[in-house]
Amino acid sequence: MFEKLLSPLLLVDKVKCEANIKKMVSKIDHTKTIFKPHFKTHQSLAIGELFKKYGISKITVSSLEMAIFFADNGWDDITIAFPFNINWLDEIEKHLKKINLNVVIEDEFVLKEIIKKARQNIGIFIKIDTGSHRTGIEPDNLILLDKITRQISQNNFLAFKGFLAHAGHTYNCKDKIEVENIYYDSLAKLEKLKKHYIYDFKNIIISYGDTPSCSLIKGLNHFDEYRPGNFIFYDMMQYYLGSCAFEEIAVALACPVVAKHENRKEIIIHGGAIHLSKEFLEVDGIKTFGQMVFLKDGSWQKPDGIAYLKSLSQEHGVLKTDTCIFNQIAIGDTIGIIPVHSCLTAYQMRYNYTILNE
Ligand SMILES: Cc1ncc(COP(=O)(O)O)c(C=O)c1O
Repeated sequence: MFEKLLSPLLLVDKVKCEANIKKMVSKIDHTKTIFKPHFKTHQSLAIGELFKKYGISKITVSSLEMAIFFADNGWDDITIAFPFNINWLDEIEKHLKKINLNVVIEDEFVLKEIIKKARQNIGIFIKIDTGSHRTGIEPDNLILLDKITRQISQNNFLAFKGFLAHAGHTYNCKDKIEVENIYYDSLAKLEKLKKHYIYDFKNIIISYGDTPSCSLIKGLNHFDEYRPGNFIFYDMMQYYLGSCAFEEIAVALACPVVAKHENRKEIIIHGGAIHLSKEFLEVDGIKTFGQMVFLKDGSWQKPDGIAYLKSLSQEHGVLKTDTCIFNQIAIGDTIGIIPVHSCLTAYQMRYNYTILNE
């Protein structure tokens, strides 16, 4: 099935995806915790159906377009976990009136704009910066948090849902202990806020969840809600962080081999930055843009030996190999590349992907 490929194609292994869902679902204490997976990683209705099999009905997305796409296809409880854009309001009224919609704010001006224009019920999460310093209000800025929570409570259309944080800095951790430290530090900050505001807002929750934390922490029952997304596919970055086994990675980019350089033991593939992104890893001092795998019988296998993407340009990938692997690959073959960051690869390849093991 991978023969005579004209251009790169993303392969998604459905069996592995389902196993990844099953494993994550089994870690969550459903008696007290909501699992609201992030759908930005796969953006696929077929994979959405897999989640439904495990009782998932609430989802997270990262854009208005994604929210409309999933709402149009039957998902009716959606959190847009990206700082609210005030230009969204008209579209929300047009397309998302019938669903249970939550949005995320971190700015008083934005809240005032929502209050001015909102004509439907909207749940509001306040984004808290627990240390990634990308977005969010500092957890000890109670003056601003008091102002914002008061204004939410004074509007009939808005409901204050709680505090939401994303610890993206777990991606820079060297080991499980560092991930745990970030997790428990974030937990302490959000629990303190919940305790402070629970008297005025009885139903507020604390929402958290990046894939490294959700994969590496033993039982997921500390926060009220978890939103990991990448775990559906995993990738080389997660593998090196220890979040998954290599066999759990559920995506590979199938790439045609177009040229070989015997003297350098390098192979040129059609598969570059526009397919994989420019994200790289340094493993033992060597920069890598993806791990090569052999494609066989509707699956893939990691070879023994050297076979990694050493550089990328827009459409080209340069595969570094040892002699043995070099000799096993011919021009016209199709090889697989396990991406460094599957969210970016899946997004770039969203119009060109195949689901294996359906
Ligand atoms: C706000 C928010 N929540 C959840 C996630 C999911 O995290 P991960 O990609 O590590 O699964 C992301 C990812 O960027 C995010 O930005």
